[in-house]
Amino acid sequence: MGFTMGLNMVLLMAMVATNLLSLYHLSSTLQSAASSPPPPPVPDHLLRQLHTIRATINHLTRLHPNTPTTPTTPTTTPSDLLLYSHLAPVASACHRHATLLHRFMNYTPFSLCPLDSDLAESLILRGCHPLPRRRCFSPTPPKPSSLSSNPFSLLPDSAVIWSQYTCKSFSCLNSQSGFNMKVENSKFITNKSNLDLPITQFLEIARSAKSPIRLGLDIGGGTGTFAAQMKLLNVTVVTTTMNLGAPHSEAAAARGVVPLHAPLQQRLPVFDGAADLVRCGHAVNRWIPVVAMEFLFYDVDRVLRGGGYLWLDRFFCKGADLERVYRPLIGKLGYKTVKWAVGNKTDPSGLKNAEVYLTALLQKPVAK
Ligand SMILES: *[C@@H]1O[C@H](CO)[C@@H](O)[C@H](O)[C@H]1NC(C)=O
Ligand SMILES: *[C@@H]1O[C@H](CO)[C@@H](O)[C@H](O)[C@H]1NC(C)=O
Ligand SMILES: *[C@@H]1O[C@H](CO)[C@@H](O)[C@H](O)[C@H]1NC(C)=O
Repeated sequence: MGFTMGLNMVLLMAMVATNLLSLYHLSSTLQSAASSPPPPPVPDHLLRQLHTIRATINHLTRLHPNTPTTPTTPTTTPSDLLLYSHLAPVASACHRHATLLHRFMNYTPFSLCPLDSDLAESLILRGCHPLPRRRCFSPTPPKPSSLSSNPFSLLPDSAVIWSQYTCKSFSCLNSQSGFNMKVENSKFITNKSNLDLPITQFLEIARSAKSPIRLGLDIGGGTGTFAAQMKLLNVTVVTTTMNLGAPHSEAAAARGVVPLHAPLQQRLPVFDGAADLVRCGHAVNRWIPVVAMEFLFYDVDRVLRGGGYLWLDRFFCKGADLERVYRPLIGKLGYKTVKWAVGNKTDPSGLKNAEVYLTALLQKPVAK
């Protein structure tokens, strides 16, 4: 108890000190942005303070009886922290991309922010998240958009500042997945193959398992079509999405569903045990390194409540890897398999790489 409080105090002090440091860096770079000479050295007293705090934290960490130590490494850094830091650097990511970060924070306070949401996204994708706040007005579209309560009505062009995108209207994006409302309208409804799991069928499964579905998280959900379909059934689903060159977030917001601007490698911004359902669309696929996928799945487990569902919707991988790599990986979660359907991925890249799709519905056990 006393230890925890002590550690909290130390961490608080550390936070204050590091913030002082970053503010100091920032103010010096802001003042000297035009000529950009090398930043002046950090004052000695700050360095000394930081050094003391680090030493204290190290000391306390060693004292802590519950701290996992790995006997194979000489340091006291937990091995999973080392591993995870390589995948998504903890806290240091913003420092690693100082040039981008300086560009992001180089603005005139209290006036209009630069039009740079693409810069913000670049930083987020590099692990610099959450980004620092700014004291400026974000550019907003000039005309107020006509907002419909129907999440499948035509998207209003006035909801987007188009200058950052190659396309200059939603009709230009019609052929791109997520933007044609006629196509989106039938998603998650139809049942064309065993890889589909119509929402009505899913809700029926949950109902008969006495597991009410009220809150969900859709990972990599594009323009929020899954959330939109669920909204019509009075289920609240939030969607993590990145723009990646097209206004996915703006489209989701215009449809009245929540876009969370969070990359795949980031800890899900939802509290433990909060979700009845997590759906992974096919943004979650073999392109994610296996270890990063493990961290993702265990984070999904964290946000799911007991009896909640993980729905892998057209996960794809090489046919040979499904049994060798992914079934064991998913199996480690210890979930009940409600649906497990595999089919050949028959688009050109799927045929070339001998890929398969997996649609799986898995239920988290109530108690472990
Ligand atoms: C969907 O189609 C599959 C076969 O392709 C079938 O097994 C399943 O029962 C169908 N589901 C519904 C809800 O019709
Ligand atoms: C959703 O809620 C609204 C308002 O309470 C209600 O009128 C509607 O019937 C509900 N829809 C479903 C599918 O439950
Ligand atoms: C899927 O592809 C494999 C070869 O890659 C083939 O042997 C198998 O018959 C295909 N299955 C279906 C259902 O088309």
